[in-house]
Amino acid sequence: MIDNKTLTQFIIEEQRKISGATGEFTLLVNDIATACKAISDGVNHGALAGVLGSAETENVQGETQKKMDILSNDIMLHVNGRNGHVAAMASEELDEISPVPEGAKHGKYLLVFDPLDGSSNMDVNVSVGTIFSVLKAPEGVAEPSEADFLQPGTQQILAGYALYGPSTVLVMTTGKGVNGFTLDRNIGEFILTHPNMTIPEDTQEFAINMSNMRFWEPPVKRYIDECLAGKEGPRGKDFNMRWVASMVAEVHRILTRGGIFMYPIDEKIKAKGEGGKLRLMYEANPMSLIVEQAGGASTTGRERILDIQPQHIHQRVPVVLGSKNEVERVTRYHLED
Ligand code: AHG
Ligand code: MN
Ligand code: MN
Repeated sequence: MIDNKTLTQFIIEEQRKISGATGEFTLLVNDIATACKAISDGVNHGALAGVLGSAETENVQGETQKKMDILSNDIMLHVNGRNGHVAAMASEELDEISPVPEGAKHGKYLLVFDPLDGSSNMDVNVSVGTIFSVLKAPEGVAEPSEADFLQPGTQQILAGYALYGPSTVLVMTTGKGVNGFTLDRNIGEFILTHPNMTIPEDTQEFAINMSNMRFWEPPVKRYIDECLAGKEGPRGKDFNMRWVASMVAEVHRILTRGGIFMYPIDEKIKAKGEGGKLRLMYEANPMSLIVEQAGGASTTGRERILDIQPQHIHQRVPVVLGSKNEVERVTRYHLED
């Protein structure tokens, strides 16, 4: 593996292609990677480090936090907040945006993250991850407010995730394709192992939480019914199903072998007055940029996710992403409805 580039070498090479680049962005990516290594270490030690179980607290979304949710959030804030690269941060686990600590230098980037995705899987030792997204603070704004974060996903200059699975993998895009790096624990470096990741246009594998079926809207029901009908049905082929309940793991599978992932809006979600289950800025936007950059598609069923103008940082949206032809089919079913 020593023949392959490290993440740091890779981003420095990318930086050299941009005239006038200051290196600040490279340092930011490095910090994010360092935070992911620290979270990976915590996740890895599990019960040995006393990080399993609930923290008995609730986040702004009304979800009970796991100990590892809080620890991962603290690591992201601590590692990224004080090096002068970020102007402010926003996290799924924080009510409000987090300014850089008193006395620390202000950078020009806005860092947005889901510190631990799939945290209900933590205690059962199934893959979890960290999702991150970087925007630019508006020109001349040294101390950004929440309104400065409300930029559509097309404005992201970096999106990525770390997946803490059998191996720890960091996947990211700066808008020029998608690259994956595997953590070599012996030397403490992420190594480029998955260059130019692409998603096949067609698939026979879908991921959706089937227990919500009775609440779905007709277009989603129609799509899944047709998949379930298999060879004898209108699709003329059998489909396979997966549901990990960690979006990071589902997206990584789709980047590896194709597939479609859906967390649609349903009657249960509507009854709570929410627009979806997954969060636009912490989950849907970064994953949508990665999926589109890998040749896939990502919509709410009705519109392209990356085009949505966020109304508030914790906004939730329906998500349909993955292999292009399947996502386009689901979107067509919604528009025909
Ligand atoms: P988080 O752990 O950050 O709250 O996110 C969990 C998300 C997502 O990763 C996953 O796809 C989905 O919630 C699982 O939802 P269900 O428990 O309804 O299956
Ligand atoms: Mn999540
Ligand atoms: Mn989370």
